[in-house]
Amino acid sequence: MIISGNNPTHVQQAADALCAGELLGLPTETVYGLAADASHENAVAKIFKAKGRPSNHPLIVHVASAEAVAKFASEVPAFAQQLMAKFWPGPLTLILPRRDDVAAAAAGGQTSVGLRCPSHPVALAVLKACAAQGVWGIAAPSANLFGRVSPTSAAHVQSEFGDALLILDGGECEVGIESTIVDCTRGVPVLLRPGQISRTQIEHACDLKLVAPEALNTDAPRASGTLASHYAPTAKVRLMSSADWRKALEALGPHTQNLALWSAEKPSHEMMGAGLLWRAMPLDATQAAHDLFSVLRNFDARGVRTIWIETPPETPEWEGVRDRLNRAAA
Ligand code: TXA
Ligand code: MG
Repeated sequence: MIISGNNPTHVQQAADALCAGELLGLPTETVYGLAADASHENAVAKIFKAKGRPSNHPLIVHVASAEAVAKFASEVPAFAQQLMAKFWPGPLTLILPRRDDVAAAAAGGQTSVGLRCPSHPVALAVLKACAAQGVWGIAAPSANLFGRVSPTSAAHVQSEFGDALLILDGGECEVGIESTIVDCTRGVPVLLRPGQISRTQIEHACDLKLVAPEALNTDAPRASGTLASHYAPTAKVRLMSSADWRKALEALGPHTQNLALWSAEKPSHEMMGAGLLWRAMPLDATQAAHDLFSVLRNFDARGVRTIWIETPPETPEWEGVRDRLNRAAA
């Protein structure tokens, strides 16, 4: 059932459901989350079951403010403090050492915990209403089945989990790709997942160089969003340069059955076979991130079997989009 995030009674209803150990489709500025009380083991188990996600893959715990961090983290390094001060509330998740008496199931058994304070006003209202009832953290992975495309609208969430799930409608997600994740448990900041907050912005805010997980010769923590194949639509995705998709379309001529193309430039009239579905890829990385998952979902919904996507520019602001596209194509 979809209820309105603009209605304070519905927001309270959503918070009450969470505090009672129920699941909720929660809007955030990045993507919709499948939310549950992070300290409630049975509620957290419902998330893993509904998503079909392995229970050793840790979930992000959402908090209403930086003050709630002490409820979950045993220690916060100075650079993590700086990142929080700069980017919270917002699309940044910090991995911190976990207090060993809290949220073990939500953390997938790791000795660390991922924490994020989202900026979406509806998410914040829900988190505050939960905190008022003593529920300080809400675990929420993206509200999609394991390995699939993340949802950026209430309707997307409903199409994943059906009408039995309570979903709070907060409109279309502004950012459109998941939060940037920085591991703060290794003495230096490590970029686990790129997102809208770029590598440059993070390095600037804490005055430290970001380290790549591969550069550390320790076991990287399990992270679903970092699996090679993830965010995949049903259709097969192929990344192609602009020259390559042009050549390939010319070769196909009119035989473009069940084919979709997401590219910056529109194919010429001659290249546009009757069966080709085309969408414009925005020239701006922020806008492209916003559109990405809904474009993929839309292609799937129209029964497309193959999706060609123009390889985005190699510049830092496209890193989050490039990352999701590489995984969708893997
Ligand atoms: O934008 C977002 O982050 C969204 C919204 C709902 O907040 N959530 C999200 O959750 O993307 P999820 O579960 O789909 O991705 C969370 C990622 C996973 O790759 C998970 O493994 C990683 O964060 N993660 C969470 N806690 C971790 C930990 N303690 N150590 C390492 N990775 C962790
Ligand atoms: Mg996910």
